[in-house]
Amino acid sequence: MTAITHPSRAGTPDGDGSPVLTAAELAAVRADFPLLARTVRGDRPLVYLDTAATSQKPEVVLDALQDFYLQRNAAVHRGAHQLAEEATEAFEGARRDVAALVGADEGEIVWTTNATAGINTVAYAISNATAGRGGEAARRFVLREGDEIVVTESEHHANLVPWQELCARTGARLRWIGVDDDGRLRLDELATVVTDRTRVLAFTHASNVTGAVTDVPAFVARAREVGALTVLDACQSVPHMPVDLHALGVDFAVFSGHKMLGPTGVGALYGRRELLEAMPPVTTGGSMVEVVTMETTTYAPPPLRFEAGSQMVAQAVGMGAAARYLDELGMAAVAAHEAEMTRLLLDAVTSVPGVRLLGPADARDRLALVSFVVDGVHPHDAGQVLDDAGIAVRVGHHCAQPLHRRLGAQSSTRASAGVYTTAEEIAAFADGLARVRHFFGLEGAR
Ligand SMILES: Cc1ncc(COP(=O)(O)O)c(C=O)c1O
Repeated sequence: MTAITHPSRAGTPDGDGSPVLTAAELAAVRADFPLLARTVRGDRPLVYLDTAATSQKPEVVLDALQDFYLQRNAAVHRGAHQLAEEATEAFEGARRDVAALVGADEGEIVWTTNATAGINTVAYAISNATAGRGGEAARRFVLREGDEIVVTESEHHANLVPWQELCARTGARLRWIGVDDDGRLRLDELATVVTDRTRVLAFTHASNVTGAVTDVPAFVARAREVGALTVLDACQSVPHMPVDLHALGVDFAVFSGHKMLGPTGVGALYGRRELLEAMPPVTTGGSMVEVVTMETTTYAPPPLRFEAGSQMVAQAVGMGAAARYLDELGMAAVAAHEAEMTRLLLDAVTSVPGVRLLGPADARDRLALVSFVVDGVHPHDAGQVLDDAGIAVRVGHHCAQPLHRRLGAQSSTRASAGVYTTAEEIAAFADGLARVRHFFGLEGAR
């Protein structure tokens, strides 16, 4: 297995002990990501500001994938040969590394194909329990007439549509916590929308549109008061800040490998052990069973109960390598660096006339991403002008149509940073943004 020995911060969790990456450390981080050195649109240096959609991958992740296929490739959890043992150890070692990054036990991490699949697993397990699967042990998950599922207006479609579908299948009612004009969740609505009818409270840790970070303890406290299960969408938090799921006290959480420097095709569903043990399976078949007769089947304990069929072993190993890489950098250092990028992005967007920010303008509890609308310019056109300058941003509704509607926009342009983003890149973005209105012959810009 390729060992991660990061040149600048290896040895201690926080490298030199400083919470912020030094210039040399940032240069060393960037050197780990070969793609960042390429040019686009002719000879323009790439400025990658689309990390919220998917992050770039450090060489150690690519090495781990390659090492798996070159040296260890075999089916896991079966076979009595050395390769099968090594493949299983790599797969389970990756589970331990991912669990360690998010403050979970290894038995509480289920491999999924992405975060979306994790949320669907919980939603379908609840409908299976409601249909009588899982027996007495699964009573906790059974929905009854009058029950409610609560989400927020800030959700990515991944944490909204599966709950709409669950409600359609079971007759439960969907309710939601609103956002204020700044895009922050309305904590005052927790007391009125979350009631003793609420069975599930599903909410994002950090919005992929506004960047607003949720006050998770307030949500968990209210859910506990009414006995509701909590499901945390940690897609945008795990890659960017320290996350300790045990300390947060959520029941379930999901996140994706590809957003946290890992490969596509793999993600994780966290569930508190006692809940995973009581939860009926969703996808059934090989690898998730104990005893199978022609009539019935008994299921393996979690996490394997939720991992039917051949798994995405190399991708899981790559996600494990990404977790170790982030851990080695130190999530406090990652968050401190990105807090600086947040301030620079906000300065860039709020200093250009005719640009409207969707989301809070203050950097507190906020991710390093800015979604914005340029007055008189379609978000796609703004993205195109930036792309011509080599600056890669996201355009569209970012899978959050209700939130855009609430904030008075149909779509937006989004610039999002990561641990490898530099102040110079954000300066280039600011420069490009200042040219957008001018390019379209609109006044007020150079
Ligand atoms: C906040 C949030 N939740 C969920 C998702 C879905 O992630 P995936 O497409 O990897 O399942 C995303 C991806 O954009 C996201 O940003």
